[in-house]
Amino acid sequence: MHIAWATDIHLNFLNEQKREGFFHSISARNPDAVFITGDIAEAPSLRFHLQEMVDSIQKPLYFVLGNHDYYHGSISSIRNEINALCETNQHLTYLCGNQVIELTKNTAVVGHDGWGDGRLGNVEHTPVRLNDFRLIEELTGLEYTKLIDKLRELGDESASAIQQTLATALDSYEHVIFLTHVPPFKEACWYEGQVGSDDWLPFFTCKAVGEVLLELMQHRPSNQLTVLCGHTHHEGTSQILSGLRVLTGSAKYGAPHVHDVLEID
Ligand SMILES: [Fe+2]
Ligand SMILES: [Fe+2]
Repeated sequence: MHIAWATDIHLNFLNEQKREGFFHSISARNPDAVFITGDIAEAPSLRFHLQEMVDSIQKPLYFVLGNHDYYHGSISSIRNEINALCETNQHLTYLCGNQVIELTKNTAVVGHDGWGDGRLGNVEHTPVRLNDFRLIEELTGLEYTKLIDKLRELGDESASAIQQTLATALDSYEHVIFLTHVPPFKEACWYEGQVGSDDWLPFFTCKAVGEVLLELMQHRPSNQLTVLCGHTHHEGTSQILSGLRVLTGSAKYGAPHVHDVLEID
């Protein structure tokens, strides 16, 4: 089975011709399915872009959402809207931590957005302020300590959503692929070939999810867990444990591409 993986495609920055070009570049790789690890568009156009992409590629599309997908909207209403869209389209699957999808006899996929949960790096003194904090309804107008509390809540929500589902998947499949937007480990937070700086780490890693992955994989020598993520737009591979590998995909605004084609047994 061949799976085309792209991340941070930010389709709202492309005109129709460029979007078609990107969709054709996916189809040209002749995948059996497609993975997208978030930052697909922005809230007002997300539904349209997902529908347009799946109409063009005509293959099962498994995805999670990234922070940009909630821009000019709210996390709760977009999640509801996209879940409803997926119910009407058999090729579209939004992975929210409640499903184990079999890809082959040995391999399944699970996913959840994740969130930069303000736990790693220099959260107290960083001068970094993301557009998230003025463009996503749940994060706007919060005083800094309340904002960090909210980011932690979002990270914790993600961690608890996947905990049982991943355990179930690992019990039944030798290899599990976990799709998420935010790198779950500092080592996977690539920026120009190195780990991102302490000022960016709080918003570019999801420590809560990383802890769940470590706990699950520490005692499972016969399982392989492959994490696919994005968000930093810079690529890298990190081997966290012998059975736990994280691939962070590259991306460029205005020029989305298939980062990799995975061969699944
Ligand atoms: Fe992005
Ligand atoms: Fe992002």
